[in-house]
Amino acid sequence: MSLRLPSTADDFQALARRRLPRFLFDYLDGGAGREHTLTANVSALSRVRLRQRVLVDVDGIESATTLAGESLAMPLALAPIGLAGMMARRGEVQAARVAEAAGVPFILSTVGICSLEEVQATRSVPFWFQLYMLRDRGVVQSLLDRAWAAGCRTLVFTVDLPAPGLRHRDVRNGMEASGLRAGLLRASQVLARPGWLWDVAVRGKPLNFGSLASQVPDAHDLNAFKRWVDAQFDASVTWRDIAWLRGRWQGRLVLKGIMEADDARRAVEHGADGLVVSNHGGRQLDGVRASIEALPAISQAVGMRAEVWMDGGIRSGIDVFRALALGARGVMIGRPWVWALAGAGPVGLAAYLSGLQRELRLAMMLTGCRSIAEIDLDRIDRTAHEHFLDTAR
Ligand SMILES: Cc1cc2nc3c(=O)[nH]c(=O)nc-3n(C[C@H](O)[C@H](O)[C@H](O)COP(=O)(O)O)c2cc1C
Repeated sequence: MSLRLPSTADDFQALARRRLPRFLFDYLDGGAGREHTLTANVSALSRVRLRQRVLVDVDGIESATTLAGESLAMPLALAPIGLAGMMARRGEVQAARVAEAAGVPFILSTVGICSLEEVQATRSVPFWFQLYMLRDRGVVQSLLDRAWAAGCRTLVFTVDLPAPGLRHRDVRNGMEASGLRAGLLRASQVLARPGWLWDVAVRGKPLNFGSLASQVPDAHDLNAFKRWVDAQFDASVTWRDIAWLRGRWQGRLVLKGIMEADDARRAVEHGADGLVVSNHGGRQLDGVRASIEALPAISQAVGMRAEVWMDGGIRSGIDVFRALALGARGVMIGRPWVWALAGAGPVGLAAYLSGLQRELRLAMMLTGCRSIAEIDLDRIDRTAHEHFLDTAR
């Protein structure tokens, strides 16, 4: 037992590693292929250099902002994470509560363990819902209706997953397979984590895809759910389906998984209110560039016509600042919120979010920004980033 208190995303990651069975930790932590894009998301951000400015009156700076029509304590949201309720007991509910207290949006995944209704019951402000297009449009329509009834007014439609990426860690750990060998492998990893077994597997039941529970026929365990969902991912989705969705969703529509300026323009033309520059945290196309590298050109292509969000590799308040300087209106964090919750519970997640905000505010002070709106390209040292700023001039 370590006597040190966790402070950074890396600290929470280390705690999560100790608490979770290996197949779950690796499912959370890993990426597609050789994980080049996963690594690039973090390393490209770390290379963005800021310009320190002094003797600017930064007393009373403000990190609050308005995004998607909501007042936020800072321009950040908790990204949708499938199976979050496997990482911590009723994980989505716990995270949604912490996010509400911290003044940032929580986005519930289609494949969350907790259902739309369970999350709604614990909140007094709306949360956002993330949708995957399923082959059965009747199921999609019913999810839209339930999301609306649960008070969701922003729909995040994920467009970079015609099929799940090939994640080798999941193959090795038996996360993907359902046979006897894979089962034994997972069981041995679970037995090595008795704390998780009691807290999440026993006390955190039911462990299924909550929002889809009534849709999956004869599903008795998580594997059956997973098989059903994998078969339901619709690889035939095109821009025409965005028009279909736009016609059926009266709230805000945000397309998540855009990496090219052309696609960003089309998203706006198809009525998207926002988009997320994202490579799914390096879990889909290994070899695509880092999100932060794709951001400037996309932000310029879209201008003020839609809100541009970015995710992938954000680990600190400085990273949030970097993304805003390069054109994002807001950022999403994926793995870090789950590391914090799995490793140190709701108190840990609250501490992590407050640390992010504190660091963002410090970055604003030390670069001479009094408000979020003042964080722009002038705040970074452009000479160090010619390679991906060319397109943004
Ligand atoms: C374990 C895991 C599960 C995820 N599940 C979903 C999901 O259900 N829907 C979705 O749109 N994105 C999903 N994502 C992608 C995240 O929303 C987000 O784009 C990504 O994690 C951002 O990168 P970061 O983890 O470096 O912050 C998932 C990511 C992880 C790590």
